[in-house]
Amino acid sequence: MLLQDKVAVVIGAAGGLGRSIALGYAREGAKVVCADLREFPSPAGFEEDMQVATHQAIVHDGGQAIYVPCDVTQTEQVTGVVAAAVAEFGRLEILVNSAGVFTGLGGIETKTDGDWDHTMAVNAKGVWNGAQAAITQFLAQGAGGKVVNIASVGGVVGLPLEPDYCASKGAVVNLTRQLGIDYASRGINVNAICPGAFRTAMARAAWDDPQVREATTAAHPIGRWGYIEEIAGPAIFLASDLAAFVCGQILAVDGGATAA
Ligand SMILES: NC(=O)c1ccc[n+]([C@@H]2O[C@H](COP(=O)([O-])OP(=O)(O)OC[C@H]3O[C@@H](n4cnc5c(N)ncnc54)[C@H](O)[C@@H]3O)[C@@H](O)[C@H]2O)c1
Repeated sequence: MLLQDKVAVVIGAAGGLGRSIALGYAREGAKVVCADLREFPSPAGFEEDMQVATHQAIVHDGGQAIYVPCDVTQTEQVTGVVAAAVAEFGRLEILVNSAGVFTGLGGIETKTDGDWDHTMAVNAKGVWNGAQAAITQFLAQGAGGKVVNIASVGGVVGLPLEPDYCASKGAVVNLTRQLGIDYASRGINVNAICPGAFRTAMARAAWDDPQVREATTAAHPIGRWGYIEEIAGPAIFLASDLAAFVCGQILAVDGGATAA
């Protein structure tokens, strides 16, 4: 198993991509701290077992996991999650930043200060908070570690009518590169994944609108949206020793969308 006995924090683990990553890490032998604002998946999501919290699913399958409530915009709550991981499992080796929000499609003239502030607080500051808490712990332990940031194709190309979202994900992409170089020599690998369109609660409105759904499908050369299970493999790779020489990189998992 690729993550045997590793201790991982997944922020944004309640549903969608974070849930798939947490479950994938546990299948690879990791002990997982599932952090999120909510314990259970959003009813807007596509999970078939949404009455089961992510940590419960892991424990049910024989793994080790706990849930820790966390608002990723609040620095002390994020450091609290890392402290909880250390208290429960003794150390921290992996942190995934998957919490995110999307305020909806609209030109900048339709967006409010609140849209910008909320998007930047969760998607950008949240990733900053997670990386800072994890790297501080990794440095104290002195044995390296892995940070996996979930950015978006919207962090490397402009997506129509997503100004606040694209700005926040661009921040994640370049923060990843920056942290990747600062800590490479200390065995800390900071990398990001840029997902294309996946069916999750966040993408519910796009999926439910036939026009947007079709346009989104057409933007992916593979000819379909991603299945959330397809994010786990790349996230496992970046959290594993297989990625020891991968530093500050941005991996698109997007059915070819940004290669087109
Ligand atoms: N679904 C897609 O098509 C897609 C595409 C590109 C990038 N992403 C990114 O993937 C990540 C996961 O999104 P998803 O698609 O799984 O959506 P999702 O809505 O299913 O999951 C997001 C999770 O983040 C949590 N969250 C929101 N605000 C939070 C906060 N302040 N503190 C802690 N947790 C908070 C939510 O409760 C939820 O469980 C996000 O960063 C998103 O931007 C998604």
